Amino acid sequence: YEHGQIDGRPRMYTEMLEQPASVERALRGRLDERFATAHLGGLEMDARALRAVRRVKILGCGSAYYVGQMGASLVEELARVPADAEAASEFRYRDPVIEPDTLYVAVSQSGETIDTLLAVEEIKRKGGHVIGLVNVVGSAIARACDGGIYLHAGPEIAVASTKALTTMYVGFALLALQLGRVRDLSVADGRRLVAGLQALPAQIEQVLDGEERIAEAAKALAAAESLFFVGRVRGYPVAREGAQKFKEISYRHAEAYQMSELKHGPLALISPEVPTVAIVPDDELTDRNVAALHEIDARGGPLVVITHAGVDLGELRAERIDVPRNERELDPLLLTVPLQLLAYHAALTLGHDVDKPRNLAKSVTVE
Ligand code: G6P
Repeated sequence: YEHGQIDGRPRMYTEMLEQPASVERALRGRLDERFATAHLGGLEMDARALRAVRRVKILGCGSAYYVGQMGASLVEELARVPADAEAASEFRYRDPVIEPDTLYVAVSQSGETIDTLLAVEEIKRKGGHVIGLVNVVGSAIARACDGGIYLHAGPEIAVASTKALTTMYVGFALLALQLGRVRDLSVADGRRLVAGLQALPAQIEQVLDGEERIAEAAKALAAAESLFFVGRVRGYPVAREGAQKFKEISYRHAEAYQMSELKHGPLALISPEVPTVAIVPDDELTDRNVAALHEIDARGGPLVVITHAGVDLGELRAERIDVPRNERELDPLLLTVPLQLLAYHAALTLGHDVDKPRNLAKSVTVE
């Protein structure tokens, strides 16, 4: 091993490639085809307790926070329970109101992030119920929570989170499905989502197979000093996570923006020197998204579009990267994977040590 490398490849690379297997593990034994639902025994909450949940509040730091935002969308879409995510690092400083019928969810790969642990303690001190979405078994956060979901991603060494992140997404999808099915989510929708989840490992493999093309796009992006990542609604946390990964390992300024907010400010910065990576799934918002991209194109801004085959980008001058379609609600996971490869190849092009980005630690355990 050199810098934790395996076969001369950075750990981040081998961890990205492990994702079909880690997602498979995260799903194993948790899907129930007969009742079109998920079973998360570790939650230690029966159907009655799940039906009593009036709100879901998700807390995490860094990538765990962004995947928490994706999780909040899943909970709202599948269970129709109001949900949102907040940076755990800010939470305790604002003397948060803790509600008895809110389900709090702490998300953490390491289970040792001090900000997330202190958020859990704040919730518990005020009488709230908190579950963990944690990778490391027996970690501090896992022990502090009232129950939870282990991710089974396997050890993650690289600072930039890849396989832990995709299993976190799966954890949220399972939680949202179970929460949905004890409420109003239909059997038909449950079946559709169970099948969608089962399809994910092979579809992640397909995205990874497209590495060469993504590496080409990354080389062009690496030349820019500054870039935007944009998405709308479901696509926005994907853009946030993509920008985070890009800045963590390439040291380029990458800023995530809501597609609909572009015209309220950042459009002023768009030029041939400032590329944009856009998340444009095939959904009810595609046309609006494509229209916003035309505004960027008209100002000479280079575009890389992460999208689905069949999405008509019209006359847009853009590099497109197609990912396989899943169920709409589950699309964010597959849209995230090319962004990992994009950041990885940009960092390699710039000659950086992707596993040990400067100034960053894998887990931040001191205040
Ligand atoms: C650090 C890492 C991030 C990570 C965050 C949360 O800041 O640099 O990559 O997302 O901690 O880590 P956790 O172990 O709680 O998921």
